[in-house]
Amino acid sequence: MKGKQSIHFDFNNMMADTIGPEHGITEQELKALAPLASRYVNDLKDERTRGKLQFLDLPYQKNIATEIIKTANFLKGKFKNLVVVGIGGSALGNIATHTALNHPFHNILADRERKSFPRVFVLDNIDPDRFSGLMDIVKPEETLFNFITKSGTTVETMAQFLIIVKRLRDRLGKDYKEHIITTTDSEKGTLREITRREGFRSFDIPSGIGGRYSVLTPVGLFSAAMSGVDIVSLLDGAAFMDEICESDNLWENPALTGAALYFLSHAKKGKNILVMMPYSNALSGVADWFCQLWAESLGKKFSLNNEVVHTGSTPVRAIGVVDQHSQLQLYMEGPYDKVITFLAIKRFSNEVSLINETLSGKKNTPPSAPSEGGDGGGHSHNELSYLEGHSLNNVMKAEFEGTRLALTEQNRPNCTLTIDELSAFTLGQLFYLFELQTAYAGKFYNVNAFDQPGVEAGKINAFAMLGKKGFEQRKNEINILLQKAQKKYSI
Ligand code: PA5
Repeated sequence: MKGKQSIHFDFNNMMADTIGPEHGITEQELKALAPLASRYVNDLKDERTRGKLQFLDLPYQKNIATEIIKTANFLKGKFKNLVVVGIGGSALGNIATHTALNHPFHNILADRERKSFPRVFVLDNIDPDRFSGLMDIVKPEETLFNFITKSGTTVETMAQFLIIVKRLRDRLGKDYKEHIITTTDSEKGTLREITRREGFRSFDIPSGIGGRYSVLTPVGLFSAAMSGVDIVSLLDGAAFMDEICESDNLWENPALTGAALYFLSHAKKGKNILVMMPYSNALSGVADWFCQLWAESLGKKFSLNNEVVHTGSTPVRAIGVVDQHSQLQLYMEGPYDKVITFLAIKRFSNEVSLINETLSGKKNTPPSAPSEGGDGGGHSHNELSYLEGHSLNNVMKAEFEGTRLALTEQNRPNCTLTIDELSAFTLGQLFYLFELQTAYAGKFYNVNAFDQPGVEAGKINAFAMLGKKGFEQRKNEINILLQKAQKKYSI
């Protein structure tokens, strides 16, 4: 890929040349897909021109960024805590950006060290203990709540909204509204109605953009700006990736190549599990965000021709090096059903050297001159002398490269996305790359990558069971199903 700060995509270990034709893709297989791939790129371009894929144009909407930055600047210093309340696509992008770009222990830094940016919490799950736990540590008078829901009706978000609003009102009286900002559809939904009625501060989610494609809207940008992230660079990175992915040539457009490789690995080589494995804690949230994007977009019952297909590959998040001591055994020796995508960072923000001293304060014996026939009283120290002169950075690198090599030796397909360093600019590239890749994959799988009927079914059942008006018929159906439910097999 072009440019100094751009992502590098290495897919050698996906190819038959490296891991053999049973598990690897042959050049012929890729070439055979190229005309279709080119058509899909042009179809998407056409849909984009017709305003159907608005998420692809978000990097250029600098007016939104300007408005967000203005609001964030106005609010800066007024709140110790920012609590984002949302779920799925209304939460995961926030977590991904915060985890990637803020200090790893942002929330426990002193106010001064956070430079007056608020602590950031995301309430997605409605686990009552976690919710109560957070309420124990955020005082209403010090906290801004950002309620995010595209539909404006999601039960998890709206249930927490009700509790929090009551708490704020009870403690703050009429000033409570200053502690709320909503992010929701510009036109419709319960939260939009309430926002209008109550006069809450609010951002719009453009109507044509679904939850999991909304990280570059106010959904993801507001909490980022509030915690000091340079959101203009984030958008610039996404725009840069848009340029990189301009080509309809399978060998030149990384989002297209990635989508084609994953699709072929699944369709032709039976790899129905896609592991996203950053060698970085900071990118763990990106891996979670990716998993939702991939799963919800491609896991579908019906094809675009309305045939029952039950398709999609299962995304799994793993973290290097931690999962070398957990999942890796399965990846190395278990079924040949996975593709592993590594995310690697060339230069971490910190270089952490290993200190060249023994535990007793003496220098280690140099590794080249082991003491003859024994430990000379410093056995355990000499055993660690191989670490001398290294840093945590190159231990991490050695572990990553060692793992990748070992998997490749076992003919396990894997590919690597490398960024020079983790910044708003490179994160913006990653977001855009993965979104576009998912849209292309939707074409290869011939499914609608932008709906989520399975998720909606769960939402409808929850509404019915909780007694929401308009869902009475579904409630009756559920009651019948529950009466008929098999009760024989439980202990
Ligand atoms: O990506 C999606 O569409 C979903 O994961 C939604 O983001 C999630 O269900 C939450 O929906 P909403 O933003 O309407 O509250």
